[in-house]
Amino acid sequence: MSFSANFRHRFSDQLLAPVREQIIELCADSSIILDIGCGTGDLLVRASHKVNKGVGIDSNHRMIHFANQRKARKDIKNIEYLCGNIFDIDIPALGYDICTCTLFLHSLKRDEAIALLCKLKNCVQRLIICDYKQPNTVSGKLGVEIDELISGHYRRFKEYQRLGFFYSLISESGLQLLEEQHTAVDGLSIYVLEKL
Ligand SMILES: C[S@@+](CC[C@H](N)C(=O)[O-])C[C@H]1O[C@@H](n2cnc3c(N)ncnc32)[C@H](O)[C@@H]1O
Repeated sequence: MSFSANFRHRFSDQLLAPVREQIIELCADSSIILDIGCGTGDLLVRASHKVNKGVGIDSNHRMIHFANQRKARKDIKNIEYLCGNIFDIDIPALGYDICTCTLFLHSLKRDEAIALLCKLKNCVQRLIICDYKQPNTVSGKLGVEIDELISGHYRRFKEYQRLGFFYSLISESGLQLLEEQHTAVDGLSIYVLEKL
């Protein structure tokens, strides 16, 4: 079993558990969900009882292997995990009700993030994005900084932060923000969006 996937499951997935439940709460029953940058696949495993179908995509084959093993152990039939770069994958128009991205967009180049959001708004009815916002506490700020320092995309995160976090991507992508929900994790918000 992959150390990185196992480590992420033991730490990040546990920390993000309440955030995942909050995202699932925002998804209508029987939705068809696309989870981009799905990592260990934790969100869709947790959502499998509620959704009609879920597809998780991640470019890291170790994460997808871990997600598929977990899915098989739990005998989940309505979730599928695919390994690939989201920019090389054809997303069928209206093939999904909801697209979720958790802690994914800040890791992209700005023009890539905008291009992806522009594409997604025409393919799905609703976007549920969970990503960084300005933390309120010193420990929150430290936690985000340390997490991003070891992430391998620190410079992209700093640009995302400098330009105003997720808000700066909304208007440039032709999206309207329906709702922002704060989470139990300082420095993380959930944004519900639709095409403008
Ligand atoms: C910080 S992790 C978040 C994982 C997961 N969403 C979560 O909440 O734990 C970002 C994930 O995006 C994946 N990723 C990065 N660039 C990608 C791309 N171009 N296409 C698909 N997945 C990508 C990475 O492999 C990584 O697993």
